[in-house]
Amino acid sequence: MSTSVTPASGRAHATAIFIGLLAALAGLMFGLDIGVISGATQFIRHDFGIDDHTLELIVSSMMGGAAIGALVSGFLSALLGRKRSLIIAAILFVIGSVLSAVAPSPGALMGARVVLGFAIGIATFTAPLYLAEISSERSRGAMVSTYQLMITIGILIAFLSDTAFSYSGNWRWMLGVIAIPGALFLIGVVTLPESPRWLVMRGFRERATAVLARLRGSANVQQELSDIEAQLKTPQSGLRLFLDNRNFRRSVGLGIVLQVMQQFTGMNVVMYYAPIIFKDMGYATEQQMWFTALVGLINVLATFIAISLVDRWGRKPILYIGFSVMAIGLGVVGAMMHLGIATHAEQLFTVAMLLLFIVGFAMSAGPLIWTLCSEIQPLKGRDFGIACSTVTNWIANMIVGATFLTLLNHFGHAHTFWLYAGLNVLFLIITIAFVPETRGVTLEQIERNLLGGKRLRHIGR
Ligand code: BGC
Repeated sequence: MSTSVTPASGRAHATAIFIGLLAALAGLMFGLDIGVISGATQFIRHDFGIDDHTLELIVSSMMGGAAIGALVSGFLSALLGRKRSLIIAAILFVIGSVLSAVAPSPGALMGARVVLGFAIGIATFTAPLYLAEISSERSRGAMVSTYQLMITIGILIAFLSDTAFSYSGNWRWMLGVIAIPGALFLIGVVTLPESPRWLVMRGFRERATAVLARLRGSANVQQELSDIEAQLKTPQSGLRLFLDNRNFRRSVGLGIVLQVMQQFTGMNVVMYYAPIIFKDMGYATEQQMWFTALVGLINVLATFIAISLVDRWGRKPILYIGFSVMAIGLGVVGAMMHLGIATHAEQLFTVAMLLLFIVGFAMSAGPLIWTLCSEIQPLKGRDFGIACSTVTNWIANMIVGATFLTLLNHFGHAHTFWLYAGLNVLFLIITIAFVPETRGVTLEQIERNLLGGKRLRHIGR
């Protein structure tokens, strides 16, 4: 094997780093946004003197904004381009963080979090789209995993930063400090080239040529340009296809169900309310914060299990294990809360079971649902299909965030955790019955099977 570095391979290498970095930063922003609120909740509640319901609204207003952001980002990224959409997202992210930090009232904080959510909704739609368009065939798979890994790292960083600020109880700093990575993201996206695919789409062929030459070396440019042009002959006509084609409606439906499943595992209950859960297990503030950081760390580490197994074992076996582990973890947490946690050993055991649940999610539904959602849609309706599932992710996320404390108050801890444990059992059954195995199958094959009317479960064969 030759190890010499030609200008083209040197460039390809630089491109890979470039793209990796953006995937990393976009994922990081996603994670920071999810993670940052958990450590702040109790201080916010205390400072503003608000009830649980208002706190739920503060937490979930961000997801509402994200759903709207994801919804409009399809139009935005088609109209203004991927790069400009990402710049808008970055600017809104910084503004939203700063506004959260200075919010004078609960209402203002909700408003600021809607802005923040709006930013992350745009970014979580546009970044993967941009990455898929700009990376070469070979690096596409690795991208989804990198992206999820960075989400978990973002969450961990947010948890750690929250822990550091918890000693002073300063929630304003907790929320404000993520403006710094936001500003870095802004600098990063300003230096990005526009997506060559978008440039061709809008008739800027020369600029597309220049970008491709910069990314891959001039030798490969003409071939790729023709490939893009050939691909664009299949125009995106998602809505029309959705109305006309029953088979496409099935894959859109599957994408929506998959994201509902991911969110109703209950993962974000822990992401948003971990310190409150640890408090209810009998831990003091400092321990609550450190255990929350531990949750973040386990979430990062267990993601590697998925990364290493997904292309060897396939998606379904990993999801079976994941949903089962999550059901057991939450079921036992519920049982412990039901029986009463009295001793130190019982406390630790309950924490361990909550961590087991986190492992179950991070090794399965966390990364794999995003992967599946990007694999099952036919080319012609891909943007539309992925937009539908992404918006669903945020709406379901919002519902979970907006109801947890109410569920605790109405049904008690044990029943709330059992409810989520039961849902995970249901998702296991749905996976067995409806989810296709897509390992090692080309996207074209999946598309042929789907549009040919095969059962959803069999479209990966
Ligand atoms: C989910 C997020 C979740 C995160 C946790 C992602 O795949 O979409 O809602 O907070 O994983 O790691």
